[in-house]
Amino acid sequence: MLEVREVTKSFGGFRALSSVSLQVEPGRFHALVGPNGAGKTTLFNVVVGRLKPDRGTVYFRGQPISGLPTPRIVRLGIGIAFQRAQAFLSMTPLENVALAVLSLRRGTGGFRALLSDRVAVERARALLSWVGLTGAADRPAGELPLGDLKRLDIAMALAGDPALLLLDEPLAGLSRAERRQMVTFIEKLLRRLGLTLLFTEHDTDAVLRLADRITVLHQGEVLAEGEPEEVKRDARVVEAFLGGGDA
Ligand SMILES: Nc1ncnc2c1ncn2[C@@H]1O[C@H](COP(=O)(O)OP(=O)(O)O)[C@@H](O)[C@H]1O
Ligand SMILES: [Mg+2]
Repeated sequence: MLEVREVTKSFGGFRALSSVSLQVEPGRFHALVGPNGAGKTTLFNVVVGRLKPDRGTVYFRGQPISGLPTPRIVRLGIGIAFQRAQAFLSMTPLENVALAVLSLRRGTGGFRALLSDRVAVERARALLSWVGLTGAADRPAGELPLGDLKRLDIAMALAGDPALLLLDEPLAGLSRAERRQMVTFIEKLLRRLGLTLLFTEHDTDAVLRLADRITVLHQGEVLAEGEPEEVKRDARVVEAFLGGGDA
């Protein structure tokens, strides 16, 4: 589904990613873990075209996508929800998702067409019901608790009907109870939709529960990769991440 091949990315003299390679198989839930500053978000930014790699290539379903603009990458079938909520807080969830649906179409009137486009609104309602936000569809998004805002972000990321979803720290900022709910929600929704998932997360329990495969990133390099059980046994991994101080 996704192949990152020998991607290097520097900021000034600082190497945030150093010849990183990884493959995400179709239908798998793949976790990218590592301490703060390891390069996880940078890698996501490279995959979706927000950053251009200095070297290396990203392939989606066998096609090179590095260098394409983000909207084209999204239209090819990659949805993304970043760590910080993307929704407009003064707009309702329905408006936010309808806007996400419309923004992926070509040749429409964009924002002005928003509330008159029945198809987009119907699609938005369906997406909101998938993420359990039907009851909150029509009040300002700014009034939603963080867990609901994150679900709204996921609904927006699903607007383009992606085959691959990237979630950057979907549990960040949530309470313990909310984190458990979110893990169950992600698991159920994505398995039902048959999506492939690449996600980052610091919550070890959540990673071990969700992931079929784990890649460990440390200081911009791949430190280990494997099935959750193998990765957990790897002493370097335990030191760098799972049992480590800042994890
Ligand atoms: N736009 C940028 N300019 C300069 N340095 C950056 C930029 N983005 C990320 N970095 C640096 O690259 C490293 C990796 O960051 P990031 O990918 O956000 O890590 P992670 O998501 O794993 O916590 C960090 O040291 C960070 O400060
Ligand atoms: Mg990050």
